[in-house]
Amino acid sequence: MKKKILEMLRVAGANFVSGENIAQKLEVSRTAIWKHIQILRKKGYKITSSERLGYKLDETPDLLLPEIIQYDLQTKIIAADSQIFYKSSIDSTNELAKRLAYHGAPEGTIVVAEEQTGGKGRLERSFFSPKEKGIWFSVILRPQCTPKDAPKFTLMAAVAVARAMERFNLRAEIKWSNDILYDGRKLVGILTEMSAEIGCVNYIVVGIGINVNVRREEFPADIREIATSLSEMAGENLNRAEFLRALLEEFDKLYIFSNFEEIFKLWRQYNITLGKKVTVFSAESGEIFTGTAIDIDAEGALIVETGGERKIVYAGDVSIR
Ligand code: BTN
Repeated sequence: MKKKILEMLRVAGANFVSGENIAQKLEVSRTAIWKHIQILRKKGYKITSSERLGYKLDETPDLLLPEIIQYDLQTKIIAADSQIFYKSSIDSTNELAKRLAYHGAPEGTIVVAEEQTGGKGRLERSFFSPKEKGIWFSVILRPQCTPKDAPKFTLMAAVAVARAMERFNLRAEIKWSNDILYDGRKLVGILTEMSAEIGCVNYIVVGIGINVNVRREEFPADIREIATSLSEMAGENLNRAEFLRALLEEFDKLYIFSNFEEIFKLWRQYNITLGKKVTVFSAESGEIFTGTAIDIDAEGALIVETGGERKIVYAGDVSIR
């Protein structure tokens, strides 16, 4: 009901829509409409009402509410069919997404939060996720693939973010495998987790954290020099819902396409790692070594040449020297 009322107000733009008109269309009383308007106002919508003219939508809140994200969203799988779980605060969207996936939530379901109190990064790190300043969300995927294919979806997500940024005239730089940087500072982090059995993946949760409107001084001191945000890059604040919509659409297209050879070609166009001297921390062996990043293989693992031999890094951290 609220969604339909909003739709009518949006279509009317700067004009009023009479309560009578809405009530008739939705086949409910004018009092029912008035009650829904009150609920929308509580959520942050600014709606002017006039006894004579009806209602007019003045402002949509800067929140990632499902009805805002889904407004005119062109996706077939990701966040389609009302599959959005919204939380104003949560420990970690990945944790809830994993629980939902375990209990059978359909592919494409997303969990989005305004704030994470226990945001998780890779390699057991925490991820700073302040209230209403970024986009912290997780997507549930159920691809038919083997566990060794799972990292590919991280690279796919990074390309989706890069393409969404392009829509806002912002050029992404991807550092293997999944950090998105601007001027050497991190803008976006991606954490992919999965549940699998031998030879088959049950589900994958791709968690994406984007610093959208975080100002330099708002970052904690320990990451202030290494983190940045889309607003710092663009020189102005961005509308988070608009950016998320663009990202979901790009992700949806790539996921349906699922041609990893082509997706990796795109990834290479944005990457800043290949051809560079790197210091690598391999999460599998715990080893730290330096070498030259040569390419990514068919699984998205990094190939590094070091002391005449080639090492394949499936998971870990890379710093560019
Ligand atoms: C990293 O850079 O180490 C990965 C960071 C991933 C952060 C996102 S925010 C949404 C989702 N929920 C989490 O707890 N983490 C991911």
